[in-house]
Amino acid sequence: MEKEDIENIALDLLIEAIYRRYGHDFRGYSKSHIRRRIKQYVERRKDGCISTLIPEILHNEELFETLLHELSITVTEMFRDPFVFRKLRQEVIPFLRTFPFIRIWVAGCATGEEAYSLAIILKEEGLYDRTTLFATDFNDAALEKAKIGVYPVEALRKYAGNYQQAGGTGSFSDYYHARYDSAAIAPALKNNVVFANHNLVTDGVFSDMHLVFCRNVMIYFERELQNRVLGVFTESLVHGGFLCLGTNEDILFSDDRHSYRSIDGPARIFQRLAVRNFR
Ligand SMILES: C[S@@+](CC[C@H](N)C(=O)[O-])C[C@H]1O[C@@H](n2cnc3c(N)ncnc32)[C@H](O)[C@@H]1O
Repeated sequence: MEKEDIENIALDLLIEAIYRRYGHDFRGYSKSHIRRRIKQYVERRKDGCISTLIPEILHNEELFETLLHELSITVTEMFRDPFVFRKLRQEVIPFLRTFPFIRIWVAGCATGEEAYSLAIILKEEGLYDRTTLFATDFNDAALEKAKIGVYPVEALRKYAGNYQQAGGTGSFSDYYHARYDSAAIAPALKNNVVFANHNLVTDGVFSDMHLVFCRNVMIYFERELQNRVLGVFTESLVHGGFLCLGTNEDILFSDDRHSYRSIDGPARIFQRLAVRNFR
């Protein structure tokens, strides 16, 4: 048997051990993603061996937390792919405006920049006060940073460009307070954002959502898991609600593809049809 085959067995056993011991299910994640991240981790430990992690993970909860963070990539930014936000403004905001209350789910929000970007758009469109933004992730450390909402001032300077390209109508510097090297998101933007732990693989739906926003999360999933999670989004949306997946994901191969009409191809914005439609 080749070394790589043995490594694959060890990887499967490690994923199974994590699932059975801690309930965190990575079985539907892309194997190449998991392999790359775990290998980087064992190489840093100078151990180089995946199989020695298995008995350790069963007995050491701290090691599990460490691995959980290794497997969760939290890279994000404000107004990432600005054109997606511009499209959202043009195509989705007019629809949201027709509701007395608006419910939005940002799934896989990492450290919160995406949720605060949406909050800014809603504020500029006069919709923020009647909106609740649920922003979820399975990484507690990322959620803690999101709740605090303090980012390096250098990053905020970069995001100012994104904000302009996204069609921002105000002055970006009004949305944070800079102090030395840090910038704190303005409290007015935080009031209606609820950050919570939610695992897309094992936890349930969020009901009556008018918009579900989930970008750069399902790229780490195999197709079957993508399909299942898209089903959760479909069930979470009101009829006529919107799903925004951004540039890297699509509904093309999912069972639910006929339950939506496309609103914008490149930004992957879809509107849920009145009837859930399997064909
Ligand atoms: C690359 S970040 C994307 C952040 C943001 N959506 C963006 O596009 O900028 C991916 C996030 O998905 C989260 N994630 C991965 N698997 C998840 C799961 N099963 N349930 C909830 N969040 C998950 C990770 O913890 C990470 O914060």
